[in-house]
Amino acid sequence: MSFFLIQMNFDGKDIISIKDFSKKEINFILEKAKEMLPYAKGEKYKDILKGKILSTLFFEPSTRTRLSFESAMNRLGGRVIGFADPSATSQKKGESLADTIRMADSYSDAIVIRHPQEGAARLAAEFANSPVLNAGDGAGRHPTQCLLDLFTIQTEKKKINKKKIVLVGDLKYGRTVHSLAYALALYGANLSFVSPANLKMPKEVNNECKKLGVEPTHSSNLEKAIKDADVLYVTRIQKERFPDAEEYNKVVGSYKIDNEMLKNAKRSLIVMHPLPRVVEIDPEVDNTSHALYFKQAFNGVPTRMALLSLSSGVTL
Ligand code: NCD
Repeated sequence: MSFFLIQMNFDGKDIISIKDFSKKEINFILEKAKEMLPYAKGEKYKDILKGKILSTLFFEPSTRTRLSFESAMNRLGGRVIGFADPSATSQKKGESLADTIRMADSYSDAIVIRHPQEGAARLAAEFANSPVLNAGDGAGRHPTQCLLDLFTIQTEKKKINKKKIVLVGDLKYGRTVHSLAYALALYGANLSFVSPANLKMPKEVNNECKKLGVEPTHSSNLEKAIKDADVLYVTRIQKERFPDAEEYNKVVGSYKIDNEMLKNAKRSLIVMHPLPRVVEIDPEVDNTSHALYFKQAFNGVPTRMALLSLSSGVTL
């Protein structure tokens, strides 16, 4: 069965949007991520990606996404080439994205790309023969983050269906929540969106949820939404996407999660954040049982190990 799925659906498959995957396929990836856990922790080692090269092309800043992809590749015996700063590449000389992709394609077996423009990963996939993995395209989507978020929720809560999940912060520009809202709706979660009025979830994502039979509630009142929540997913206000600094200054610090805010929450509430956090979560929360964000960030390694091995057509 698994062999069939690997051959049919993943070998050479691009990962551009979570919407390109069925629930069955997502479950399969999450299952593989679970198998990767001891390998991600370095407790076991198998060089199933020996001889393979991954390109990591980061046109935007990154800490976790790039390093966890690199760790994932290295943990499976593969190698990594790439850049974290496009100003040190021929982009600076005016080279097109298409040409950069053609080169990376000829030097490696898979390409991870993060780019400020929405749709850039989809475009890259058109110029590459090897699989392209979208590590975030502007305010668009972030499918590999979505998979590690799902993996985290499923591991902690056993199931996603009917769980009350609050997404809070910059729902307009936050690509992680665009992917996650869709996927959570696919699993039948009970969704609540909390944001400042001008940073609401885009209509498109809202409609995607509705089509899947989930009607998210919208509000700006976090205290109320937290009360009976199982998961609180916090996001950073995406400063770099604001056309106007004044607008950013009006909303920065709109929501701040601290112990006082969490005092009436369920004891089992988990607080997640794709990170980096700036002011949204007070460090005092780090020492509570609610704080899941660092474990969530670690889960990027097994999840990306699963994706790299599946898209290379190899398995443990
Ligand atoms: C997020 C991103 O880049 O979209 N970070 C990440 O990949 N872990 C969230 C953010 O930058 O706020």
